[in-house]
Amino acid sequence: MTLAEHPIETPPRAPSPVHRFGTLAVHAGSPHDPVTGAVIEPISLSTTFAQTSVGKPVGQYEYSRSSNPNRDNFERAIAALEHARFALAFSSGSATTANILQSLAAGSHVISVSDVYGGTHRYFTKVALTHDVKVTFSPSIEIDIAQLITPETKLIWIESPSNPTLTLVDIRKVATIAHQHGILVVVDNTFLSPYVQNPLDHGADIVVHSVTKYINGHSDVVMGAAAFNSQDVYDRLSFLQNALGAVPSAFDCWLAHRGLKTLHLRAREATKNATGVANALKNSPNIIAVNYPGLPSHPQYAVTQKQHRDGMGGGMLSFRIRGGHEAAERFCQATKIYTLAESLGGIESLVEVPSAMTHGGIPREQREAAGVFDDLVRVSCGIEDEADLVADVLQALEKAVVGPKITNALASNGNGSV
Ligand SMILES: Cc1ncc(COP(=O)(O)O)c(C=O)c1O
Repeated sequence: MTLAEHPIETPPRAPSPVHRFGTLAVHAGSPHDPVTGAVIEPISLSTTFAQTSVGKPVGQYEYSRSSNPNRDNFERAIAALEHARFALAFSSGSATTANILQSLAAGSHVISVSDVYGGTHRYFTKVALTHDVKVTFSPSIEIDIAQLITPETKLIWIESPSNPTLTLVDIRKVATIAHQHGILVVVDNTFLSPYVQNPLDHGADIVVHSVTKYINGHSDVVMGAAAFNSQDVYDRLSFLQNALGAVPSAFDCWLAHRGLKTLHLRAREATKNATGVANALKNSPNIIAVNYPGLPSHPQYAVTQKQHRDGMGGGMLSFRIRGGHEAAERFCQATKIYTLAESLGGIESLVEVPSAMTHGGIPREQREAAGVFDDLVRVSCGIEDEADLVADVLQALEKAVVGPKITNALASNGNGSV
């Protein structure tokens, strides 16, 4: 759905792009029902739409795979929040990735950051290759990019922060070089959400989301989205969206849109909680290192301040626990508020061990080169109370790290990224 086709003047007293995030989150793509005046849009379940004569539909819709009122409204809201002209919604974050990669011609080359989400890595190495699209991974893309570009390079794939090591990339730096070679830059913004970071403002060409995470925010929808400004990208991706049929249901669009309306409130709480937990972890002798972009000790804290709203760190963090993989597993079983589960970005706090769960499919050598060691624990802070979350983490650490009591005097900060 294009913002230009349907500017945000629905409803009549509508917000415009000059409005702030919370106002847009609540109102963009949220017209009052023109028939009943319903303030909340109805769910449009019909798969097909009547035509008055052949090829003349009553309204703008023909068939729900091609477009649907709930999907259009959701896409309009995403476009507004990501400062984009266009947005498209997909059946999952993975389907979004697949659509973008499918849009490349055979023989294309992609450069990606090394520590991408495990499913993205799987698609790049096991699926894209079968269409003759090759991906080169770089652990330090800002430094390596100029050397890695070939005449076939068509796309650069960034996750910032990355999953699960929370490494940041200076998007502007990479985009400047990419654009000199006519290469598009994609940023997976799942970990921060459009409230904390708007990659298009920093030079990215396409921003993608697993809507399953912060945007929906309630762990009850699997969905994805891409937002961008180029008409050409819109034409290519919307054609594929329809041709491949990886579209979300009307009900899921409605639910995700409802979730989106409180994104700013949830993202602020999650950041507050993650900041509290990161500070508590940083001072614990049971920890080797904490990765959290909101800590001044984060190696790319300058990027946090440049790229994130108000220097916010977001709701995600990871840490290396003393005692190896066993301690990491024990920790995740010892928490009482945090649930041991994959996924992130919901109202409820979650923990997991990436080496054995979300990133288990990546060969150990590659995984560890990207900082995903067996003792790494990933934490998604929800919107419970900060003091309860901090207390839960500290009590679980005490239970998980067995053996001789470690004192602060003996503890070192490991790789210095505390
Ligand atoms: C950063 C990131 N991108 C993409 C995805 C894929 O999204 P989905 O699970 O909605 O397919 C995930 C899933 O965890 C993710 O964490």
